[in-house]
Amino acid sequence: MDITLKDKVAIVTGGTRGIGFAIVKKFVEAQAKVVIWGSRMETAEAALVKLREAFPDCDAMAMAPSLTDQKQVREAMEEVVRKYGRIDILANNAGISQSIPLENYTDEDLDKIIDLNIKAVFVCSKAAAAHMKEAGEGCIINTSSVVSFYGQGLGCMYPASKSAVNGLTRSLSRELGPHGIRVNAVAPGVTRTDMVAALPESMVAPLLQRIPLARMGEAEDIAKAALFLASDMASYITGAVIPVDGGAIL
Ligand SMILES: NC(=O)c1ccc[n+]([C@@H]2O[C@H](COP(=O)([O-])OP(=O)(O)OC[C@H]3O[C@@H](n4cnc5c(N)ncnc54)[C@H](O)[C@@H]3O)[C@@H](O)[C@H]2O)c1
Repeated sequence: MDITLKDKVAIVTGGTRGIGFAIVKKFVEAQAKVVIWGSRMETAEAALVKLREAFPDCDAMAMAPSLTDQKQVREAMEEVVRKYGRIDILANNAGISQSIPLENYTDEDLDKIIDLNIKAVFVCSKAAAAHMKEAGEGCIINTSSVVSFYGQGLGCMYPASKSAVNGLTRSLSRELGPHGIRVNAVAPGVTRTDMVAALPESMVAPLLQRIPLARMGEAEDIAKAALFLASDMASYITGAVIPVDGGAIL
């Protein structure tokens, strides 16, 4: 049986590039209608153009609400519902990483990572859950990270933020399960995107030596797991945080 998302409507935050854009493409391949949420309208529109080049018949739109603003997110979701009638899938993928030594952390660094990696997941989940509850079904997929299990040597707030994502995933799966809403997370290992390109070589090289599948993850590897979780193939899976890391032993 092919995995299909036919007639499903999906929002992907941070859907403009990297893992998010790979999720957008996988969902479109599976025939979903996809809404790309970017940090700026300009980049969201550019991603939509790129998507249409690859999939000329796709049904997609681009938006750029501030993910930490409850009103903006609520209104953006209402717009999606006006256009497509429903929201079936929310992929909370937008995130930033950090490799800042403890002593150098500023208030701004703290706010930045807490806002995008934790608060935005909460705000978007809350707004989407309202529509999903009404429909009596839905699916939320969060992008965590394997460092949420192991920590990392620098930038302690990044693993901390992703541990919070795991906590939200498990708690919301319990709160929303009775409403027919599944909440899961993918936890990527080192994956070839701009985020990894920005990390110091000294941080990435040792990680690669500890991957049994002997290669860095590709964004598509993560997107395949997100597609599985979004689909009916995962109908009895909720509250799971699934490592997609080539078996990394960190
Ligand atoms: N690349 C990896 O190795 C890796 C590993 C584990 C987890 N992750 C997680 O995967 C997710 C995607 O990361 P990526 O590697 O594709 O990174 P990326 O930097 O290529 O993409 C990040 C995405 O988040 C969006 N974004 C950034 N700041 C934003 C803001 N303020 N508001 C809205 N959107 C914003 C960007 O526009 C972009 O679409 C993140 O949550 C990241 O923590 C990545």
